[in-house]
Amino acid sequence: MFHFEPKDLIVPEVHRLLLGGVGPRPIALVSTISSAGVPNLTPFSFFNAFGSNPPVIAFSPSRRGKNASLKDTYNNIVQTRECVVHSVTYSMVEQVNLASAEYPPEINEFIKSGLTPIDSDIVKPKRVKESPFHMECKVREIVNAGEGGSSANIIVCEVLKFHVAEDIFKNGIIHPDLIDLVGRMSGSFYTRARGSSIFEVERPQKLGIGYDMLPDYIKNSNIYSANNLGKFGKIESIPSEEEVSQFICEVKDDQTKEFEMTEEAFFRYLTQNEYKKMLKVSLVLAGNPRLKTFLEMTAKCALEQNDLLFAWKTAVYAGNFNK
Ligand SMILES: Cc1cc2nc3c(=O)[nH]c(=O)nc-3n(C[C@H](O)[C@H](O)[C@H](O)COP(=O)(O)O)c2cc1C
Repeated sequence: MFHFEPKDLIVPEVHRLLLGGVGPRPIALVSTISSAGVPNLTPFSFFNAFGSNPPVIAFSPSRRGKNASLKDTYNNIVQTRECVVHSVTYSMVEQVNLASAEYPPEINEFIKSGLTPIDSDIVKPKRVKESPFHMECKVREIVNAGEGGSSANIIVCEVLKFHVAEDIFKNGIIHPDLIDLVGRMSGSFYTRARGSSIFEVERPQKLGIGYDMLPDYIKNSNIYSANNLGKFGKIESIPSEEEVSQFICEVKDDQTKEFEMTEEAFFRYLTQNEYKKMLKVSLVLAGNPRLKTFLEMTAKCALEQNDLLFAWKTAVYAGNFNK
């Protein structure tokens, strides 16, 4: 690895490290208004949410890198202590980018970006119609981290009111495919968080055995990935040899469905995530020198389909072929 201490680097190098390693970062599109009444709209990706009771978010309009001057958003916040923070979606990203240009304080970035201002209910700054998620906020605290260029000014806000588009909900949550958020990464890279870029990782419901308690025949397998081992560690207790033998007998005896039982079919079932058929075929191929590999591939497939118990029973059975 490379090793760096910030004191040995110039500030833009430190900045580039943070932008590359801390990401994807959510983007806050922040609407403020000056005490003279000039609206301002700017994106900030040094941004996140920190708690729900009360709802607290924070973002950082840093001092400008080139001359350490303070940004218009910061000055407006100091004057009025109010803002509206919006999520940024893929369909808005180029207009939001326009709003990020260093316009002088008297310029209204709603006009420059073409984004539509609409009234807020509680605070003075306007909301952005195109965003599906708005938070009207009052400022609780401002934390200044330095006086030099690129130093942070963390604006800690309490959300007073949420406005959320009705069509981004699915099964009671804001669904990533529907809200279509973008995130900021290094250089001028962004990421679009939907489709094949999103996946689910279920939180452990109970106390799992953990990585350290995995048997060596699982840890040392060439088939399982590090993520597979992490999933195996979620089981509360390893199935006993009796449970495994009973499970294998049941699969062998199950005559309910007829399907192709060849090595070729095994690989077809793999592409279809048909792990139950894969196990049945593996058991028919008993005596095959690659039986252990087939069983482990089956366990892996079951794991990836979140059938943890099936995966474990198959993996324990595969482990027998090590002995
Ligand atoms: C996606 C994106 C994220 C940004 N994030 C930040 C940030 O977290 N902090 C910051 O100081 N500037 C950030 N910038 C740059 C500011 O948007 C830019 O300096 C802007 O001109 C400041 O506007 P203002 O002076 O009207 O507040 C970002 C720009 C873009 C395009």
